[in-house]
Amino acid sequence: MFFILSLLLLHSYAGYVTPEQLHLSWTENPNEMRLTWVTFFPIECSIFYRSLLCSENSSWKKEESSYEEFQTATYFYRLQYIHTGVLKIQENCNYEYYVGSLMGQSEIYTFHGRTHSSNDKSKTNLIIVADWGGGATSINTKNVIIEQLIVDRFEAILHIGDMAYDLDDLEGMVGDAWLNMIQPLAARVPYMTLPGNHEPNLNYTQYRNRFKMPINEANEGTGWFYSFNFGKAHYVMLNTEILLSNSRENEELTEINWFKQDLNNANANRHEIPWIIVLTHRNLYCSVDWTTSRTKNKDCSENSRTLQNKLEDTMYEAGVDLFMQAHVHNYERNTPIYKNATVKSEYDDQYMHFNPRAPIYITNGNAGNIEGHNDPISRHPQLWSMYSSEEYGYGNLKVYNSTHLY
Ligand SMILES: *[C@@H]1O[C@H](CO)[C@@H](O)[C@H](O)[C@H]1NC(C)=O
Ligand SMILES: *[C@@H]1O[C@H](CO)[C@@H](O)[C@H](O)[C@H]1NC(C)=O
Ligand SMILES: *[C@@H]1O[C@H](CO)[C@@H](O)[C@H](O)[C@H]1NC(C)=O
Ligand SMILES: *[C@@H]1O[C@H](CO)[C@@H](O)[C@H](O)[C@H]1NC(C)=O
Repeated sequence: MFFILSLLLLHSYAGYVTPEQLHLSWTENPNEMRLTWVTFFPIECSIFYRSLLCSENSSWKKEESSYEEFQTATYFYRLQYIHTGVLKIQENCNYEYYVGSLMGQSEIYTFHGRTHSSNDKSKTNLIIVADWGGGATSINTKNVIIEQLIVDRFEAILHIGDMAYDLDDLEGMVGDAWLNMIQPLAARVPYMTLPGNHEPNLNYTQYRNRFKMPINEANEGTGWFYSFNFGKAHYVMLNTEILLSNSRENEELTEINWFKQDLNNANANRHEIPWIIVLTHRNLYCSVDWTTSRTKNKDCSENSRTLQNKLEDTMYEAGVDLFMQAHVHNYERNTPIYKNATVKSEYDDQYMHFNPRAPIYITNGNAGNIEGHNDPISRHPQLWSMYSSEEYGYGNLKVYNSTHLY
């Protein structure tokens, strides 16, 4: 009788104690991998892992984790428990792992132990995705990225804003479903994030609880802005929502000062890490044709000019190579630009720039979204617009060595 009762209890609790929404991220330290997952019942979980094909002892090991209670709903009472644990890993070993407790466990996943700031300066391959959501086109994008993971392995995904449309919708259930959608990817490669205009609700509560990004002295653990070296490039993730908000002057100042200092430090190290890449959600340069779009708005005009005023001189002086932006739901690749005009390189053609002298701007906001079809590309593109497309998709950034970036 007791046995049957326990079985029934186990059965009805299975959905509450089984880990879901599993995702990996780099921490502020090299050779660490953070694991984050959710249960709907407060239960102690552990990480079970072992290295594969590596000089390390390959027996299964156990690492403790901790959890925080998170009230996901605005109107109702809906709790979830967000678990995190950090694994110390050996550079370039492969790992096999699962998370959970005696009551319920995740699937087994593997990941490759290449982290930021490592000595490995060989070629890097990253996915850049934004404006994703969970609709039919979003699922197509996910399936294509999974295919790419198999045939052309990449090391991490950088999601530069606008995630679930929105994380807090339906009392947080939209966020839960979206994190489960990306789990087959995010449980295998680090998933590094930035907030977009769909995340600031209630002071970014959902974003900050669900994504644990690298901490630095300036960001106070918010994960709103941070940077890391990976291979031959320095990556700066910047929160442009703060820069367009009219009520966050102190935080804006903190972020801008941190950005200038970060670029100074990166420049001092340029002999070793030659590329500097800045990523934000909002656009400094885009030429979408709002007159035919779902809404007319300020995205490629007034807001762009505000951000140009706040960021462009700093980036130009620091010699930033590439600026990845999203928000506009299409793809556009621009020339090297300074003050709204093309800056000639030593050599330019339709497909390449040799020794560019200003940042190249790429809009990459076409992963899916739920706001109707992609924003139409301009029928009157700016002179600096080299190529644009309304297809759904995502970005693939390859840094080959000190001289070639694709
Ligand atoms: C591998 O590690 C396990 C657990 O730490 C230990 O019990 C075992 O003796 C180790 N094996 C070898 C060959 O070092
Ligand atoms: C939002 O959160 C940040 C970081 O914890 C805090 O510094 C700030 O005061 C908060 N702002 C509001 C309006 O609550
Ligand atoms: C850039 O210049 C073009 C052409 O002169 C102008 O139409 C556009 O408004 C400018 N855009 C920004 C964002 O300054
Ligand atoms: C850098 O990578 C490119 C693209 O693969 C290659 O053509 C070039 O020879 C490489 N340069 C060096 C110095 O290895």
